[in-house]
Amino acid sequence: MQRLFRIFLVEDEDLVRNVAAQELVDAGFEVVEASSGHEALRLLHADDGLDALFTDIRLGHGPDGWDVAAAFRASHPERPVIYASGYAPGEHRRLSNSLFFPKPYRPSQISGALRLVLGAGLREPAPQPAAPETGVPLMRLTYMSRPTASGREPSAVQAMTRLAQQCQALNRLSGLTGALLVGEEWFIQVLEGESTAVLGALDRINRDARHEDLRIFELTPASGRMFGGWAMHVGRVEAVEPELLWRCVEGFRHPGPRAAELLIEALTQSVRKAA
Ligand SMILES: Cc1cc2nc3c(=O)[nH]c(=O)nc-3n(C[C@H](O)[C@H](O)[C@H](O)COP(=O)(O)O)c2cc1C
Repeated sequence: MQRLFRIFLVEDEDLVRNVAAQELVDAGFEVVEASSGHEALRLLHADDGLDALFTDIRLGHGPDGWDVAAAFRASHPERPVIYASGYAPGEHRRLSNSLFFPKPYRPSQISGALRLVLGAGLREPAPQPAAPETGVPLMRLTYMSRPTASGREPSAVQAMTRLAQQCQALNRLSGLTGALLVGEEWFIQVLEGESTAVLGALDRINRDARHEDLRIFELTPASGRMFGGWAMHVGRVEAVEPELLWRCVEGFRHPGPRAAELLIEALTQSVRKAA
């Protein structure tokens, strides 16, 4: 029998941990749980067979999620790390090539992301709404990130044009549509298409050194495309109404249940202006 992938789930709130564990088991993973940083470090030393880490950042007293992830990465440099947190000071401690989900997250988003990062054809994903045009399940990714210096070079306009051309070419190949807002301080993007294509793009996006601090607000089955006409609409963040942009930025810092909705509203505003 094929071995199940083993996920190390570290979360100090019992209710949140139980819900996440159940989702991961339902998605076909084996789950090893820890409810504190100390317990997590103990288990890490005792168990070498953990395939991926999914950890909360704030774990009460003792080591936090950044510490647990650093220890996990030190012993398993190639294994995936996913963080989740509502409020996470210490962003500079985030490991490269990791995923970050702001809380509250949908547990199914975590199992979807784990499938991606583990390259797991674990089990068929749960039934998802079908795309009317092809009958294939669609997925939507909504995230916000911060440009790095290399994301702004050699000039803002040139960098934006190059990025737009790259995204559009890649998206045409894989049937992806969406919108991207570019600014000095922020990237906001929504990407929609067949789930394997979205997850493939997320992998590329996550590795791209032109941005950092990528926070996923939505990685979810979608019943249809919201930006169907665009291989990737690209606009400037400054084109968004200042109050809406301010609420998006607040949502990045202190995520609430409407954070993804606000990002999509900002992207829609930009598309409407371009139309
Ligand atoms: C802000 C941002 C948005 C991106 N959007 C997309 C996208 O829509 N589709 C995609 O396939 N890749 C996207 N990427 C990833 C890059 O375009 C891709 O990794 C890069 O062009 C590949 O370059 P390389 O082959 O030199 O590594 C994005 C990257 C960044 C920084």
